[in-house]
Amino acid sequence: MGFLLGIDVGTSGVKTCLFRMDGSLQAAASADYPLLQPKPGWAEQHPEDWWRAVKHTIQDIIRKAGIRPADIAGIGLSGQMHGLVLLDRSGNVLRPAIIWCDQRTQAEVEWMEEKIGRDAIIRMTANPPLPNFTATKLLWVREHEPQVYENIAKVLLPKDYIRYKLTGEWATEVSDASGTLLLDVAHRQWSRDMLRHLDIRPEWLPAVYESHEISGRVSAGAAQETGLAQGTPVAGGGGDQAAGAVGNGIVRTGIVSGTIGTSGVVFACTDKIVTDPKGRLHSFCHAVPGKWHVMGVTQAAGGSLQWFRNQFGDVERSAASFLQKDPYELFSEEAEHAPVGSEGLLFLPYLMGERTPHLDPFAKGAFVGITARHAKNHFIRAVMEGVAYSLLDSIELMKALDMDISHVRASGGGARSRVWRQIMADIFNREVDTVEANEGPAFGAALLAGVGIGVYGSVEEACEAAVRTADRLLPVAAHVPVYQKYYAVYRRLYGDLRESMHLLHKLVEEGEQG
Ligand code: XUL
Repeated sequence: MGFLLGIDVGTSGVKTCLFRMDGSLQAAASADYPLLQPKPGWAEQHPEDWWRAVKHTIQDIIRKAGIRPADIAGIGLSGQMHGLVLLDRSGNVLRPAIIWCDQRTQAEVEWMEEKIGRDAIIRMTANPPLPNFTATKLLWVREHEPQVYENIAKVLLPKDYIRYKLTGEWATEVSDASGTLLLDVAHRQWSRDMLRHLDIRPEWLPAVYESHEISGRVSAGAAQETGLAQGTPVAGGGGDQAAGAVGNGIVRTGIVSGTIGTSGVVFACTDKIVTDPKGRLHSFCHAVPGKWHVMGVTQAAGGSLQWFRNQFGDVERSAASFLQKDPYELFSEEAEHAPVGSEGLLFLPYLMGERTPHLDPFAKGAFVGITARHAKNHFIRAVMEGVAYSLLDSIELMKALDMDISHVRASGGGARSRVWRQIMADIFNREVDTVEANEGPAFGAALLAGVGIGVYGSVEEACEAAVRTADRLLPVAAHVPVYQKYYAVYRRLYGDLRESMHLLHKLVEEGEQG
């Protein structure tokens, strides 16, 4: 019997999962790595850390599952999107990767808008420039680190660096390439026009595959380092959101996914390119041939609760280790004991600026409405509610584009919390379901590999065969109007506070410069 391996290079760590051909999980392994924040708003990681973690998880899986490496019939890759990995001619990493949530490139965004024009950029790439997108990071390196820039031979995305280490191939695939702002998303190929406007050398960019296509095979060297069998096929895979959507069966219109990982994403599949005229939703290629997707992104979703846990969760962390539980389970129990709407405590999850709907890298997080009655459980619940309001902002934009959203499929670490899922159902006023496999991107990547090696006839067929619904929550009728009223206030807050947020940003920047 053969197996499929899915590798997801996430923001906090790598998750590698081995699946049987029917989509059931055989074994999983994960390994963490640090996020470097050398300055406020900066976010970097060492690609070598990703590779070390990938090797460790593969070895761990082969050992745990007790399989022969040759039983792995195909590998699919997935990973955090938008990160800039720069290699020199010998394949050495030139500097730490500047990753998706780094916010340093607003000046480059403005430069692009001025030089090329926002509408022209949307025409070429289907998206406006944003600090998250890879192209702006490359321009930053050109401006600030010319000695690095002149040694560039290859520009890769995070999971594609892992592909390079596994196979020696420089390749990417359409869904992840869409988030570079260098892809002609309509035609699923690099945009020669955009490259010319930016004066970026086309030979730096890897070959672009469809997500299920086999892009290379495990090399002899990588086989030795990982324990995999030489020659194992590696499929294109997908950016974490597109691969996660495949893993959740979001390959047709009507149903959208609401993912709470570090970031939060509302993702909808479309049969043609749909663009929000203001560019607040991303329009990218889906990991399904001939399909696209739109998505709205909350920069800090699970990241907000993680921040709260790290700063204020000592008690839960020690109790959890004593009870051998996950601290997030204790957080969920506490949130359950706070009332719906957290007695007027609202949280804006803009801890890492915000994308949808504000497109503002300088937006800041806030708790508003604190009174002496509020206790820690209100704060935890307010964080969960604030993230759900932010995801609702994306759903509202999709509705305005006439998209049909019958129900929402929850996934990601945050969706493991039943309380958080119920909050989502109540705030979205829609049914929220989950699927059995909660390995989202790693699962989707493995299914794409299954399509690539011919186990399934198409991505849609793979999802029909392997994705099964697990549980369904309906909105509680009494909660819906309460949340509607609080959401109306939530929506006003960014506008009310924007100027102060920007002033604070300036003050902190000035402080940094001494
Ligand atoms: C998507 C995005 C995040 C990252 C990290 O546009 O920026 O989802 O891929 O997960």
